[in-house]
Amino acid sequence: MEQKLQAIALEAKNAIGSAQNSDELGQIRVKVLGRKGDLTAILRELGKLSKELRPVMGQKVNEIREELTALLDAKEADMAKHELAARLEAEALDVTLPGESVKRGRLHPLSIVQGEIRDIFIGMGFDVKEGPEIEYERYNFEMLNIPENHPARDMQDTFYIRDGILMRTHTSPVQVRTMLSESLPIRMICPGRVYRSDDVDATHSPMFHQVEGLVVDKGICFGDLKGVLDEFIKKFYGSGTKTRFRPGYFPFTEPSAEVDATCAICHGKGCNVCKGTGWIEILGCGMVHPSILEGCGIDPEVYSGFAFGLGLDRLTTIKYGITDIRLLFEGDTRFLGQF
Ligand code: PHE
Repeated sequence: MEQKLQAIALEAKNAIGSAQNSDELGQIRVKVLGRKGDLTAILRELGKLSKELRPVMGQKVNEIREELTALLDAKEADMAKHELAARLEAEALDVTLPGESVKRGRLHPLSIVQGEIRDIFIGMGFDVKEGPEIEYERYNFEMLNIPENHPARDMQDTFYIRDGILMRTHTSPVQVRTMLSESLPIRMICPGRVYRSDDVDATHSPMFHQVEGLVVDKGICFGDLKGVLDEFIKKFYGSGTKTRFRPGYFPFTEPSAEVDATCAICHGKGCNVCKGTGWIEILGCGMVHPSILEGCGIDPEVYSGFAFGLGLDRLTTIKYGITDIRLLFEGDTRFLGQF
């Protein structure tokens, strides 16, 4: 019986040692310590022993039972720990991993510059208007003193949608729209896209952007025009910037002027951006032609005004030193991400 007991103990210890998981351990526990287990069977056989041997063997069986129980408990605890660790590893949500970053959009350089221009003019009391990109020929040309066959139409090769309707070639038709629909006085700017049938190159695009400006009130004179534009350019390019008004021609303003600012790159010394002149042409402007006012139902004997139109793309490329206008319209985020 003693041998049998030792054999059971040895077998159980080996089984415990090589058990792979807690299920196997549970089976061993039942097989050895259970009610129908090996040790219980031995205890039953104790009755066959002599009175002297019975307690001795009984104690041995108990000792082995305790030893095996302790072994099983320890192994089970150990296994539970490992199984938990393995599960945690397998199901882990590693909160220390960097998250998937969401790519944030940002403002297009044209929008940034447009915003700056808008803020400067809002600061001077201007409203911001909008007008349609598909426009009546009447508003785009006729009501701006550009009748059919007028040579000024040649400078604005036009995309026609159909007879009398076109892609606006400038933002000036918004002058007409505003004078027709708004009450006086008027102080507005209007940024927007314009279209001309130009071939694409580093400085031309069939679609580009302008910002129109219009002021109509009693007693507006050329001094107001100069003051407002000089102030705008100094705010935009810096207070050290000088402006220069040259005579110009637009059918809808009289007198008309082209305005230059000292080159933002070389500050007047001359560089390749200003083609060595030290000046950069910024915008066209003039006093609103009396016949335009009249055409919009405004009495030119009582009211006068000035208007201007600036090229947003040009201001933007100069401001950021962008050498090719096409970059603005290609939508390449490697380029656009730099602003
Ligand atoms: N619309 C003119 C252009 O596109 C610019 C301009 C606007 C000139 C307003 C004078 C007054 O060339």
